[in-house]
Amino acid sequence: MEVQKRSTITNGLRSLSSYLKKLQRSGDDYIRLNIESANRLKNIKTSIASKLANDKYKKKAHSKPHLIDDIKGKVYECEKIRNLGTLREKLVFSSGDPESDIMFIGEAPGYEEELKGMPFVGPSGQLLTKIINAMGLNREDVYISNIVKFRPLIEGPDQGTSNRKPSSEEMSVSLPYILDEIEVVKPKVAVALGGTAMQGLLSINGPLSSARGKIHDAHGYKTIVTYHPSYLLRSKSPNKDKRKLWEDMLMAMQILGLNISEKQKNYFK
Ligand code: URA
Repeated sequence: MEVQKRSTITNGLRSLSSYLKKLQRSGDDYIRLNIESANRLKNIKTSIASKLANDKYKKKAHSKPHLIDDIKGKVYECEKIRNLGTLREKLVFSSGDPESDIMFIGEAPGYEEELKGMPFVGPSGQLLTKIINAMGLNREDVYISNIVKFRPLIEGPDQGTSNRKPSSEEMSVSLPYILDEIEVVKPKVAVALGGTAMQGLLSINGPLSSARGKIHDAHGYKTIVTYHPSYLLRSKSPNKDKRKLWEDMLMAMQILGLNISEKQKNYFK
Protein backbone atom coordinates (compact mmCIF):
# COMPACT_ATOMS: atom_id res chain seq x y z
CA MET A 1 0.00 0.00 0.00
CA GLU A 2 1.29 3.43 -0.94
CA VAL A 3 0.41 6.44 1.22
CA GLN A 4 -0.23 9.74 -0.52
CA LYS A 5 -1.09 13.15 0.86
CA ARG A 6 -4.80 13.92 0.50
CA SER A 7 -3.99 17.22 -1.26
CA THR A 8 -1.77 15.42 -3.85
CA ILE A 9 -4.64 13.06 -4.69
CA THR A 10 -7.18 15.91 -4.83
CA ASN A 11 -4.98 17.93 -7.18
CA GLY A 12 -4.34 14.90 -9.38
CA LEU A 13 -8.06 14.13 -9.59
CA ARG A 14 -8.83 17.78 -10.38
CA SER A 15 -6.42 17.83 -13.35
CA LEU A 16 -7.72 14.44 -14.51
CA SER A 17 -11.31 15.67 -14.26
CA SER A 18 -10.63 18.84 -16.29
CA TYR A 19 -8.72 16.78 -18.89
CA LEU A 20 -11.68 14.32 -19.19
CA LYS A 21 -14.18 17.20 -19.46
CA LYS A 22 -12.07 18.73 -22.24
CA LEU A 23 -12.08 15.40 -24.12
CA GLN A 24 -15.85 15.08 -23.64
CA ARG A 25 -16.45 18.59 -24.97
CA SER A 26 -14.51 17.68 -28.10
CA GLY A 27 -16.87 14.68 -28.56
CA ASP A 28 -14.32 12.06 -27.40
CA ASP A 29 -16.40 9.68 -25.21
CA TYR A 30 -13.96 6.74 -25.05
CA ILE A 31 -10.43 6.64 -23.69
CA ARG A 32 -7.92 3.97 -24.45
CA LEU A 33 -6.07 2.82 -21.30
CA ASN A 34 -3.32 0.26 -21.01
CA ILE A 35 -4.20 -2.84 -18.93
CA GLU A 36 -2.20 -1.65 -15.91
CA SER A 37 -3.98 1.74 -15.76
CA ALA A 38 -7.40 0.11 -16.32
CA ASN A 39 -6.74 -2.25 -13.40
CA ARG A 40 -5.58 0.60 -11.19
CA LEU A 41 -8.75 2.50 -11.97
CA LYS A 42 -10.85 -0.56 -11.06
CA ASN A 43 -8.97 -0.90 -7.74
CA ILE A 44 -9.53 2.76 -6.88
CA LYS A 45 -13.26 2.35 -7.64
CA THR A 46 -13.49 -0.74 -5.41
CA SER A 47 -11.61 0.81 -2.52
CA ILE A 48 -13.68 4.04 -2.63
CA ALA A 49 -16.93 1.99 -2.71
CA SER A 50 -15.82 -0.07 0.28
CA LYS A 51 -14.77 3.07 2.20
CA LEU A 52 -18.19 4.63 1.55
CA ALA A 53 -19.97 1.43 2.67
CA ASN A 54 -17.81 1.35 5.79
CA ASP A 55 -18.60 5.00 6.62
CA LYS A 56 -22.32 4.29 6.14
CA TYR A 57 -22.08 1.27 8.47
CA LYS A 58 -20.21 3.31 11.09
CA LYS A 59 -22.83 6.06 10.88
CA LYS A 60 -25.62 3.54 11.41
CA ALA A 61 -23.81 1.89 14.32
CA HIS A 62 -23.52 5.29 16.00
CA SER A 63 -27.14 6.30 15.39
CA LYS A 64 -29.20 6.97 18.52
CA PRO A 65 -31.68 4.09 17.98
CA HIS A 66 -28.74 1.72 17.55
CA LEU A 67 -26.99 2.97 20.70
CA ILE A 68 -30.24 2.67 22.67
CA ASP A 69 -30.53 -0.92 21.45
CA ASP A 70 -27.00 -1.59 22.69
CA ILE A 71 -27.95 -0.34 26.17
CA LYS A 72 -31.04 -2.55 26.10
CA GLY A 73 -28.83 -5.54 25.31
CA LYS A 74 -26.52 -4.67 28.23
CA VAL A 75 -29.46 -4.42 30.65
CA TYR A 76 -30.70 -7.79 29.47
CA GLU A 77 -27.33 -9.36 30.21
CA CYS A 78 -26.64 -7.45 33.44
CA GLU A 79 -25.64 -9.96 36.10
CA LYS A 80 -25.98 -7.43 38.92
CA ILE A 81 -29.63 -6.85 38.07
CA ARG A 82 -30.38 -10.56 37.62
CA ASN A 83 -28.56 -11.48 40.82
CA LEU A 84 -30.77 -9.20 42.90
CA GLY A 85 -33.50 -11.82 42.52
CA THR A 86 -36.10 -9.21 43.44
CA LEU A 87 -37.20 -8.20 39.96
CA ARG A 88 -39.33 -10.13 37.50
CA GLU A 89 -38.02 -11.63 34.26
CA LYS A 90 -39.51 -9.54 31.48
CA LEU A 91 -37.48 -6.58 30.29
CA VAL A 92 -39.51 -3.43 29.71
CA PHE A 93 -37.23 -0.88 28.12
CA SER A 94 -38.06 2.52 26.64
CA SER A 95 -40.41 3.88 24.01
CA GLY A 96 -40.55 6.88 21.72
CA ASP A 97 -37.96 8.85 19.86
CA PRO A 98 -34.33 8.82 21.09
CA GLU A 99 -33.74 11.91 18.92
CA SER A 100 -36.25 13.85 21.04
CA ASP A 101 -35.34 16.99 23.01
CA ILE A 102 -37.40 15.80 25.98
CA MET A 103 -37.21 12.65 28.04
CA PHE A 104 -39.70 11.44 30.69
CA ILE A 105 -38.34 9.14 33.37
CA GLY A 106 -40.49 7.02 35.68
CA GLU A 107 -39.59 4.53 38.40
CA ALA A 108 -40.36 0.99 37.12
CA PRO A 109 -42.87 -0.85 34.95
CA GLY A 110 -46.06 -2.18 36.49
CA TYR A 111 -48.53 -4.91 35.53
CA GLU A 112 -49.78 -3.36 32.28
CA GLU A 113 -46.31 -2.30 31.17
CA GLU A 114 -45.00 -5.83 31.72
CA LEU A 115 -47.93 -7.24 29.77
CA LYS A 116 -47.34 -4.96 26.79
CA GLY A 117 -43.55 -4.70 27.12
CA MET A 118 -43.70 -0.92 27.03
CA PRO A 119 -43.33 1.78 29.69
CA PHE A 120 -46.27 3.93 30.76
CA VAL A 121 -49.12 2.18 29.00
CA GLY A 122 -51.40 1.65 32.03
CA PRO A 123 -53.71 4.28 33.58
CA SER A 124 -50.82 6.56 34.61
CA GLY A 125 -49.33 6.16 31.13
CA GLN A 126 -52.61 7.23 29.57
CA LEU A 127 -52.56 10.35 31.72
CA LEU A 128 -48.93 10.95 30.74
CA THR A 129 -49.97 10.76 27.07
CA LYS A 130 -52.65 13.42 27.71
CA ILE A 131 -50.06 15.67 29.39
CA ILE A 132 -47.68 15.25 26.45
CA ASN A 133 -50.51 16.09 24.02
CA ALA A 134 -51.44 19.16 26.07
CA MET A 135 -47.86 20.35 25.55
CA GLY A 136 -48.54 20.17 21.81
CA LEU A 137 -46.38 17.05 21.37
CA ASN A 138 -47.07 13.46 20.37
CA ARG A 139 -46.13 10.51 22.52
CA GLU A 140 -44.07 9.05 19.65
CA ASP A 141 -42.02 12.27 19.49
CA VAL A 142 -40.76 12.13 23.08
CA TYR A 143 -38.53 9.55 24.75
CA ILE A 144 -40.06 7.65 27.70
CA SER A 145 -38.15 5.36 30.04
CA ASN A 146 -37.87 4.10 33.60
CA ILE A 147 -34.97 3.84 36.02
CA VAL A 148 -35.72 0.17 36.73
CA LYS A 149 -36.41 -1.91 33.64
CA PHE A 150 -38.11 -4.93 35.22
CA ARG A 151 -41.34 -5.04 37.21
CA PRO A 152 -40.48 -5.32 40.91
CA LEU A 153 -41.33 -8.75 42.26
CA ILE A 154 -43.73 -9.31 45.13
CA GLU A 155 -43.06 -12.66 46.77
CA GLY A 156 -46.00 -15.03 46.98
CA PRO A 157 -47.92 -17.49 44.86
CA ASP A 158 -49.26 -15.00 42.33
CA GLN A 159 -48.41 -11.33 42.14
CA GLY A 160 -51.49 -10.66 40.00
CA THR A 161 -51.86 -7.01 39.15
CA SER A 162 -50.07 -5.77 42.28
CA ASN A 163 -47.12 -3.46 41.86
CA ARG A 164 -44.56 -2.06 44.24
CA LYS A 165 -42.08 0.77 44.16
CA PRO A 166 -38.52 -0.26 43.34
CA SER A 167 -36.13 -0.43 46.29
CA SER A 168 -33.11 1.86 46.50
CA GLU A 169 -30.86 -1.13 45.76
CA GLU A 170 -32.86 -1.97 42.61
CA MET A 171 -32.57 1.64 41.54
CA SER A 172 -28.87 2.01 42.20
CA VAL A 173 -28.04 -1.17 40.23
CA SER A 174 -30.20 0.06 37.32
CA LEU A 175 -29.06 3.70 37.43
CA PRO A 176 -26.03 3.42 35.08
CA TYR A 177 -28.33 2.39 32.24
CA ILE A 178 -30.74 5.32 32.47
CA LEU A 179 -27.71 7.63 32.70
CA ASP A 180 -26.38 5.99 29.52
CA GLU A 181 -29.77 6.59 27.87
CA ILE A 182 -29.62 10.26 28.87
CA GLU A 183 -26.12 10.42 27.43
CA VAL A 184 -27.38 9.03 24.10
CA VAL A 185 -30.61 11.04 23.86
CA LYS A 186 -28.94 14.27 25.06
CA PRO A 187 -32.29 15.86 25.92
CA LYS A 188 -32.69 19.61 26.35
CA VAL A 189 -34.74 18.65 29.38
CA ALA A 190 -35.38 15.44 31.31
CA VAL A 191 -38.48 15.13 33.49
CA ALA A 192 -38.31 12.89 36.56
CA LEU A 193 -41.82 11.64 37.30
CA GLY A 194 -42.49 11.26 41.01
CA GLY A 195 -40.47 11.08 44.20
CA THR A 196 -38.96 7.67 43.52
CA ALA A 197 -37.56 8.69 40.12
CA MET A 198 -36.34 11.94 41.72
CA GLN A 199 -34.50 10.03 44.47
CA GLY A 200 -32.99 7.50 42.07
CA LEU A 201 -31.93 9.97 39.44
CA LEU A 202 -30.98 13.03 41.47
CA SER A 203 -30.31 11.56 44.94
CA ILE A 204 -32.75 14.05 46.45
CA ASN A 205 -34.33 12.64 49.57
CA GLY A 206 -36.46 15.60 50.64
CA PRO A 207 -40.07 16.15 49.64
CA LEU A 208 -40.84 16.44 45.94
CA SER A 209 -42.69 19.70 46.55
CA SER A 210 -39.43 21.46 47.47
CA ALA A 211 -37.57 20.10 44.43
CA ARG A 212 -40.21 21.34 41.96
CA GLY A 213 -39.76 24.61 40.09
CA LYS A 214 -35.96 24.24 39.90
CA ILE A 215 -33.62 23.02 37.23
CA HIS A 216 -31.53 20.12 38.49
CA ASP A 217 -28.59 18.39 36.90
CA ALA A 218 -28.64 14.71 35.97
CA HIS A 219 -25.34 13.69 34.43
CA GLY A 220 -24.90 17.22 33.04
CA TYR A 221 -28.43 17.43 31.61
CA LYS A 222 -31.15 19.83 32.70
CA THR A 223 -33.69 17.89 34.73
CA ILE A 224 -36.92 18.94 36.39
CA VAL A 225 -39.11 16.99 38.76
CA THR A 226 -42.85 16.74 38.87
CA TYR A 227 -45.58 14.54 40.31
CA HIS A 228 -45.99 11.02 39.05
CA PRO A 229 -49.20 10.77 36.98
CA SER A 230 -50.43 8.00 39.32
CA TYR A 231 -50.29 10.54 42.18
CA LEU A 232 -52.65 12.77 40.23
CA LEU A 233 -55.00 9.84 39.64
CA ARG A 234 -55.24 9.33 43.40
CA SER A 235 -55.21 13.01 44.38
CA LYS A 236 -57.92 14.37 46.63
CA SER A 237 -57.53 17.82 45.09
CA PRO A 238 -56.90 16.83 41.48
CA ASN A 239 -57.33 20.27 39.92
CA LYS A 240 -54.87 21.91 42.29
CA ASP A 241 -52.30 19.15 41.69
CA LYS A 242 -52.92 19.12 37.94
CA ARG A 243 -52.12 22.83 37.89
CA LYS A 244 -48.87 22.23 39.78
CA LEU A 245 -47.84 19.50 37.36
CA TRP A 246 -48.86 21.73 34.48
CA GLU A 247 -46.64 24.57 35.79
CA ASP A 248 -43.75 22.10 35.70
CA MET A 249 -44.62 21.22 32.10
CA LEU A 250 -44.74 24.93 31.19
CA MET A 251 -41.23 25.17 32.58
CA ALA A 252 -40.17 22.20 30.44
CA MET A 253 -41.76 23.86 27.39
CA GLN A 254 -39.83 27.05 28.13
CA ILE A 255 -36.57 25.12 28.28
CA LEU A 256 -37.48 23.46 24.98
CA GLY A 257 -38.18 26.89 23.46
CA LEU A 258 -41.73 25.89 22.49
CA ASN A 259 -44.41 28.49 21.85
CA ILE A 260 -46.84 28.62 24.74
CA SER A 261 -50.33 29.82 23.85
CA GLU A 262 -52.55 31.84 26.22
CA LYS A 263 -54.82 28.80 26.41
CA GLN A 264 -51.92 26.57 27.43
CA LYS A 265 -50.75 29.12 30.03
CA ASN A 266 -54.18 28.99 31.68
CA TYR A 267 -54.84 25.23 31.76
CA PHE A 268 -56.23 24.03 35.14
CA LYS A 269 -56.22 27.57 36.59
N1 URA B 1 -45.07 3.94 36.53
C1 URA B 1 -43.78 4.12 36.17
O1 URA B 1 -43.03 4.75 36.88
N2 URA B 1 -43.39 3.63 35.04
C2 URA B 1 -44.19 2.97 34.22
O2 URA B 1 -43.74 2.55 33.16
C3 URA B 1 -45.52 2.80 34.61
C4 URA B 1 -45.94 3.29 35.75
